[in-house]
Amino acid sequence: MEKKFYDKRRIKMVSINIAFAHHKGGTGKTTSCINISGYLALWGKKVLVIDLDPQANATSGLGIDKNSIGESMYDVLVGDVKIEDAVLETEIENIHLAPATLDLVGAESHLYRINNRISILKRSIEGIRKYYDYIMIDTPPGPGLFIINGVVASDYTIVTLDPSVFALEGIETLSTIFDDINESSGVKINLRMAILTRCNKSSVFSRIAGKRNPVKEIRKGMKGFLDSVYTVPYGVEVYEAQLKGVPISHYKPKCKAGVAYKKIAEEVRR
Ligand SMILES: Nc1ncnc2c1ncn2[C@@H]1O[C@H](COP(=O)(O)OP(=O)(O)O)[C@@H](O)[C@H]1O
Ligand SMILES: [Mg+2]
Repeated sequence: MEKKFYDKRRIKMVSINIAFAHHKGGTGKTTSCINISGYLALWGKKVLVIDLDPQANATSGLGIDKNSIGESMYDVLVGDVKIEDAVLETEIENIHLAPATLDLVGAESHLYRINNRISILKRSIEGIRKYYDYIMIDTPPGPGLFIINGVVASDYTIVTLDPSVFALEGIETLSTIFDDINESSGVKINLRMAILTRCNKSSVFSRIAGKRNPVKEIRKGMKGFLDSVYTVPYGVEVYEAQLKGVPISHYKPKCKAGVAYKKIAEEVRR
């Protein structure tokens, strides 16, 4: 794929790097990352999505064929490739992608041998921050060095939660994870927002948890922790859009999940 970088726009911009972090897989990190990025891009913002997950779901979710990737985030983190040489244009106007490949599985053990291992990503994006309005970092399940690198490189973090699991585990689990990261790396997570994904009022989880309105319970539990808690309903369109390799904003923006992500993107844009 042709690489066209924004080298004509040498304007200093404030970029907000957002890490989507949670230690569990399948909580909607990648989905949220792609879909918030989609709206920001639709509104003319220049967005770089950095895929830090070897599963490369953000890469495929933005329509990039895994087999077409040359340099990837593996080469940026482990080798001496500059991130601008790994960045690809996507078919979605205003969205660039620093892709992931399965190689990333092997990167973590390598990172442990490097000094300043928690700020490798931060250093690697220093030179390109100015080209973007937003840098969105999609992290794998952890808690490992990728999450920490994502958090360190970011101005703030968005956490995504699957209410069906979360209603059972409770708020303590989340605080424990953040405390652990803080203790092991000295990094304090600036948590700005939580997104409860795949919310479905009538689903079984409310009965399992024995709570009449788990989303309300979670909001209550999070009070004092953070102000912004958003919900995104379950929608088959979300999955369909991912298969097509486009954000929901570019597929069915009017569906309920699309409208929910638009609202979240509005807050991110603020
Ligand atoms: N609101 C939603 N409606 C329907 N499916 C969703 C929704 N959010 C996430 N999913 C699906 O759930 C799965 C896991 O989401 P994903 O974003 O990949 O989680 P994570 O990145 O945290 O591992 C994906 O197949 C995704 O398409
Ligand atoms: Mg993911």
